[in-house]
Amino acid sequence: MATIRLINLRKEFGPDTVAVENTNLTIEEGEFLVFVGPSGCGKTTTLRMIAGLEEPSGGEIYIGEIPVNDLEPGKRDIGLVFQNLALFPHMTVFDNIGYGPKVKKMNPDERRRRVEEVARTVHIHPLLSKLPGQLSGGEAQRVALARTLITDPQAFLLDEPLSNLDAKLRKEMRAEIDGLHKSLRKTFIYVTHDQEEAMTLADRIVVMRDGHIEQVGTPLEIYHDPINRFVADFFGSPPMNLLDGEMYRAGEALYFRAGKFDARLSGPVPDHEGAVTLGIRPEHIAVTSGKGEKEADMGARVALVEPLGKDTLLYLDYGGESRLIAAVDGHQDIRHDTQVSMRFRHDDLYFFAPDGLRLRTSPGPPG
Ligand SMILES: Nc1ncnc2c1ncn2[C@@H]1O[C@H](COP(=O)(O)OP(=O)(O)OP(=O)(O)O)[C@@H](O)[C@H]1O
Ligand SMILES: [Mg+2]
Repeated sequence: MATIRLINLRKEFGPDTVAVENTNLTIEEGEFLVFVGPSGCGKTTTLRMIAGLEEPSGGEIYIGEIPVNDLEPGKRDIGLVFQNLALFPHMTVFDNIGYGPKVKKMNPDERRRRVEEVARTVHIHPLLSKLPGQLSGGEAQRVALARTLITDPQAFLLDEPLSNLDAKLRKEMRAEIDGLHKSLRKTFIYVTHDQEEAMTLADRIVVMRDGHIEQVGTPLEIYHDPINRFVADFFGSPPMNLLDGEMYRAGEALYFRAGKFDARLSGPVPDHEGAVTLGIRPEHIAVTSGKGEKEADMGARVALVEPLGKDTLLYLDYGGESRLIAAVDGHQDIRHDTQVSMRFRHDDLYFFAPDGLRLRTSPGPPG
């Protein structure tokens, strides 16, 4: 099937709703591509246009060298798995999985063989005689997967397939889908709200907002090298701390100030003065009890301690508008309502202009 290409893709629902616009994207054969973005940003609409369930208002979709805008869904060789599975309630698991082949008049022996084969692939072979109402959420989701697998499509489109499952099952199914992708070597396009799912499954992540693509990149590119404040804020749990303030110059040095927070910048900094948002991830703030020793240390008060085991989250009042969250080693004994000093890893600071765009840094002045 080769690649799937979206060229200037656009979808309007009436004059006031532009669900998708200016979407240009090439999905490589065999790639695992994950769409993420806030509710209503156009993920499902994009998937439905690729599948042929929604007609684009503009632009083109190519599968391989063939434009498919006018090709009906059944001829696109694409398998769909959606969040609401719509299994036939009165049919057994066997008949649900075998429904497609039956409609296509596959011979019964071959059909039985194929149903059993895909049921084994997703580990539901013992359930074939059950009805959907007798299945757990995870089992039902496997049936939905099997029903798509049996059609042997060239590409799988999965729209939040795991969002109805509890956390543990999600992880199990996530590993299952990952394994399936690796063994089938087919193209997977996957929509999720869950950033952990996106990070772990994706070859590349597409971050969408308001109908357009903000950034496309590998999980680590998206995490470490976000192009703007929106992407930076979207990935990370807890999210990146964002401090609205200003940069100013005093002598040779550049400083950042926000409320009572006033610090000399020593790492790579953008050549910028004036309003700016400084971003720092929780894991890049070091915290020690009591007063700091160095000029780079800043005082804060511990407003809340959340021990998570491996890490502990500290919510810190530093005299600015919001609190900072620091993630420190779980062995560190820092108590609620005590004075601490914090130090930012200056190599890991991000700077965003007032319009949200990332300000690129150059090697900083000697610290
Ligand atoms: N059939 C429709 N008629 C009118 N508007 C629609 C229709 N389908 C989607 N929309 C609108 O298009 C926009 C994008 O919707 P879409 O379902 O693609 O979002 P999404 O990113 O999948 O969101 P979610 O994460 O909530 O599933 C929304 O503003 C939505 O209200
Ligand atoms: Mg959706």
